[in-house]
Amino acid sequence: MTSTPRPDAFPTDPAPLTPAGRPVPAAATGTTHTGTVHTGTARAMRTRPRRRRATPALRRLVSEVRLHPAELVLPLFVKEGLTEPTPLRSMPGVVHHSRESLRAVVEEAAAAGLGGVMLFGVPAHRDATGTGATDPDGILNLAIADAVEAAAGRLVVMADLCLDEFTDHGHCGVLDARGAVDNDATLVRYAAMALAQARAGAHVVGLSGMMDGQVGVVRDALDDAGFTGVSVLAYAAKYASAFYGPFREAVESTLVGDRRTYQMDPANRREAGLEVAIDVEEGADIVMVKPAMSYLDVLADVAATSPVPVAAYQVSGEYAMIEAAAAQGWIDRRPAILESVLSIRRAGADHVLTYWALEIAGWLREDLTTSDRTNR
Ligand code: PBG
Repeated sequence: MTSTPRPDAFPTDPAPLTPAGRPVPAAATGTTHTGTVHTGTARAMRTRPRRRRATPALRRLVSEVRLHPAELVLPLFVKEGLTEPTPLRSMPGVVHHSRESLRAVVEEAAAAGLGGVMLFGVPAHRDATGTGATDPDGILNLAIADAVEAAAGRLVVMADLCLDEFTDHGHCGVLDARGAVDNDATLVRYAAMALAQARAGAHVVGLSGMMDGQVGVVRDALDDAGFTGVSVLAYAAKYASAFYGPFREAVESTLVGDRRTYQMDPANRREAGLEVAIDVEEGADIVMVKPAMSYLDVLADVAATSPVPVAAYQVSGEYAMIEAAAAQGWIDRRPAILESVLSIRRAGADHVLTYWALEIAGWLREDLTTSDRTNR
């Protein structure tokens, strides 16, 4: 972007540029061309950004991002053996579903116009290789079939493709003789799990295990079995985050230790570009950044460069923090929720996985997305 210097521009004072690369009018910068701060007289300020904020109608007209139910995906937990949904202590408002209540909530999500649901299974029994994940009668595979039927094509049914809920040690993969997560042996299990999920009818498999090569192996397995129409959502940039804490309770995780040998280091931004590039190259249909709020820089980078849609996961800890602060009366719940999800969209996510998806869709229906009806 080149800008022709104005004849009166102060030569040593580079002209400020807007984010789009256009020169900022002097009046908006609060300085004159000679660098003197002006006194704020009306004549000097032809550009008054506040003009566009003066009424709810103007603010609505010029808002750059808005929320829509189709861009929201609701994560759901289905627990084996339940007859009634049961609340989760660390995630107020979120439940373990029974198969029956899962059908009902998927129906509700479809009626609300949500983009999709992401299913997690909580099995009654776990073992070293996570056989429950590949058993056609395993809880997640049964839940996929239930959800697909309830959705009746109105929303996308996604399933978590990872072993951590099914292994007795709680890791996302199988372990080698030394107890380390064995990348390539895990890929064999993921391929089998993808087939089980595809046979159950999953529209999208969500690879969340952060094994190297997982997208390619799963894509090949699906294609070889004739499931060329099943999409792969790759948790491409998934960080080893403390914000998964409440989720681990939700899936009754048995994990001892952490996932730092496979999930990304929270310090790394550039590396996300590599992870995304690999996953796209291996055939990912959608890539994801996770968590969302502490990684908006990563999300913005990925959104700017990814050739495929970008999802972001507002994880359990993000949810729990806002719920906890709101319960204390420390923040105003609805505006805080909306601001959090809006910020994730603004950073560049095409769709957002959030435990508030249904509630937000309800607010959007009633046009309660802004609590601000004043002209002050
Ligand atoms: C792994 C998985 C996790 C989450 C989604 N998929 C947990 C982990 O990596 O430990 C976290 C989601 C959340 O915190 O809301 N299957």
